[in-house]
Amino acid sequence: MATQDELKQQVAAAAVSYVKGGIIGVGTGSTANFFIDELAKVKSKIDGAVASSEATAKRLKAHGIEVFDLNSVDGMEIYVDGADEVTEHLHMLKGGGGALTREKIVAACAKKFICIADASKLVPVMGKFPLPVEVIPMARSYVARELVKLGGQPKLRDFTTDNGNVILDVFGLQILNPVELEAKINQIVGVVTNGLFAARPANVLLLATAEGVKTYE
Ligand code: 5RP
Repeated sequence: MATQDELKQQVAAAAVSYVKGGIIGVGTGSTANFFIDELAKVKSKIDGAVASSEATAKRLKAHGIEVFDLNSVDGMEIYVDGADEVTEHLHMLKGGGGALTREKIVAACAKKFICIADASKLVPVMGKFPLPVEVIPMARSYVARELVKLGGQPKLRDFTTDNGNVILDVFGLQILNPVELEAKINQIVGVVTNGLFAARPANVLLLATAEGVKTYE
């Protein structure tokens, strides 16, 4: 029986078949790290990458992959990233690593979002994993009160984002309509963004299972 890390490695290797050249958008987290290691093996095929976090930029550079500022590129064919939860509709809950805002921005600039995950991430309804919300520090108490009104229990994470903001992890949500909730939370003044990737879901989900990597699109 493969370990979770072996499954992450397998799905990262499978994602390389989507790498055709140009500039690749790269996510953050342990599964994305496996993908960076696989991308390094084909680095002569690509021009470079755009990173969704300082940690990802550091790992890409350590492999000798050029990292471009997002403002200096016109767009990307693909963005590859993991998820904390994903549904069969390819809606995702992300941000366990705290990089949700930059992930959403880089993903927005890519034609295709390729989500790579091990089978434990596929859920019928999202919300068991606490929903991360990036917040401007001075708005944290106000936003927390608004999130309670939406039925959640926000908890401040001991963490500062790459953008200098804080994260409220919202427990106790059963996310039956992710598109609606994503928009609702983003409308709270002081919220930078939340970890629901539903308005713009993944285009492809590569899911590593005991029976091999399955593709959903
Ligand atoms: C980071 C993320 C990650 O994609 C998510 O947390 C999954 O991480 P991992 O691949 O380590 O399970 O959104 O902000």
